[in-house]
Amino acid sequence: MNDNRFQPPPRTPWARTPTPLHRLPKLSKEWGVDLWVKRDDQTGFEWSGNKIRKLEFIVHEALEKGATALITCGGVQSNHCRATAALAAKLGLRCVLVLRGERPPRYASNNLLDQLFGAEILYVTTEQYQNMQEVRMVLDSQMRSQGGRSYFIPEGGSNGLGAMGYLAAWDELLEQLGRDGVPEAFDSVVVAHGSGGTQAGLVLGKILRSEQRMHECRVVGVNVCYDAGKSLELVKTVMWNAIQGWKMPLSFMASDMEMLDGFVGRGYARSAPEELRFLAHVARTEGMLVDPVYTGKALFGLRETLRRDPTFFGSRVLFWHTGGAFGNFQVEDSEWREVLP
Ligand SMILES: Cc1ncc(COP(=O)(O)O)c(C=O)c1O
Repeated sequence: MNDNRFQPPPRTPWARTPTPLHRLPKLSKEWGVDLWVKRDDQTGFEWSGNKIRKLEFIVHEALEKGATALITCGGVQSNHCRATAALAAKLGLRCVLVLRGERPPRYASNNLLDQLFGAEILYVTTEQYQNMQEVRMVLDSQMRSQGGRSYFIPEGGSNGLGAMGYLAAWDELLEQLGRDGVPEAFDSVVVAHGSGGTQAGLVLGKILRSEQRMHECRVVGVNVCYDAGKSLELVKTVMWNAIQGWKMPLSFMASDMEMLDGFVGRGYARSAPEELRFLAHVARTEGMLVDPVYTGKALFGLRETLRRDPTFFGSRVLFWHTGGAFGNFQVEDSEWREVLP
């Protein structure tokens, strides 16, 4: 099934794209594969990471609908919330973040940045968070009574519209193949999985543009938040949302999406010493930062899998770096002291 005519809906190009795509020569040698990286950690400093690609579509629609405020939600240190707060500040929109958890005892990392960008923050319990529809309605009616109009963005920007960001990113990747020393194709693309929108967009791109060189390429998510079953469900839901919403001419099979399970480690946003040591190794070896919550665990999973089976991903592997570097500043000092000299 392929359709090169399908054009994603309109967006505003806020991300700094195309993002660089380069080889990781030392890690390639060490790990025995031809390892490349797509640097979506460089989509722009303040909104660095994968979320801005989704927000290009989502916030474009919000503006078209006349929104004066963006409401979104996530964990206390959500990268998505920070990117939304940065974009809202740029656009002069009000931004309300509904964060799951308690107000942290000190300003740090993304949570500090949310506040620098002027976002209004509502800290809620897990129970309240699960009733997001209710929270949304209360906020929306408050805004309406003040003459404003809100637009709600789901967690991680992961809905059909947000996934268009990574369908477009797949097209961007295809443009980069075979140029400036970049291989003609990769055997696998590996990406961190949280709310599923990034992987969903990449898989949609791969299926839609299937006659291209990347037809055989596997898109492998590394679930770092939820178990593999729930993570696959999230990807499928976002894909259906996109396919139905835009009448996309495609169908997909379970084999189109893969999950590399076993790397949630101690739990979401909790790091084991070997993961932090690994993250420091990557930084020292390639001069590239990954983060403890998403990309560090995903790349750790990639490396561990290669150790067990050097042929698992094929010979040419692309790690899609989705950002998150500010997360390094939320790790406790005591945890760093355990692994750094
Ligand atoms: C840095 C980073 N990488 C990867 C992800 C996962 O992306 P997605 O939520 O689209 O699965 C997220 C967000 O959840 C993130 O903040």
